[in-house]
Amino acid sequence: MKDLPSSFNLDPSSFIPDEYDNHIQRKLSNMKGQYLDQQAYAAKLADKDEILYQVYEIKRPEIEGEILHGISIVHPGKVGDEYYMTKGHFHTVLETAEIYYTLQGKGYMVMETPEGNFAVEELRAGRVLYVPPRWAHRSVNVSEDEDLVMFFAYPGNAGHDYGTIETQGFRKLVLDRGNGPEIVDNPRWSPVES
Ligand code: F6R
Ligand code: ZN
Repeated sequence: MKDLPSSFNLDPSSFIPDEYDNHIQRKLSNMKGQYLDQQAYAAKLADKDEILYQVYEIKRPEIEGEILHGISIVHPGKVGDEYYMTKGHFHTVLETAEIYYTLQGKGYMVMETPEGNFAVEELRAGRVLYVPPRWAHRSVNVSEDEDLVMFFAYPGNAGHDYGTIETQGFRKLVLDRGNGPEIVDNPRWSPVES
């Protein structure tokens, strides 16, 4: 972590930063209970604990005023009919936003608020997405063969609440039931007791 201004390069083909502080690899085994088709999940996991997505983080102090940023790469693939996706989360400090800039690929950002609003925005190369404060967010790669690569930036004090989504899921899922990506209601969505 540097306290002086800094910059980094993105490799033009892989989009991997030439300098980063943290490399997270999320595997199939980290997504237990998240995919609709639990049987397909178990069968796939028994075959191979594949890496579904990766995050390269440029670390900054996790305090107000700082901006955490990096690159997320969601690989193509499906569990049953459901496209590979990130776990998704609310920010612990709900009143914090996030910006994504899609560098490669195509997908959707699935979002919702604790108040019951939901939205699904298209992600494709060259497009910028603003996730306002209070909106949980999950990125989904709907390409058959290409990584979904995004630059992201969010406030240093945001923090991550994964637990709420792990328990209740997102209201909307992105599935391929034979005709490409479809946004459907999540039959298993149920709110966390408060
Ligand atoms: C940070 C953020 C992204 C995600 C990344 C992986 O607040 O939203 O950098 O962390 O897309 O997704 P998760 O964190 O949900 O596993
Ligand atoms: Zn976030």
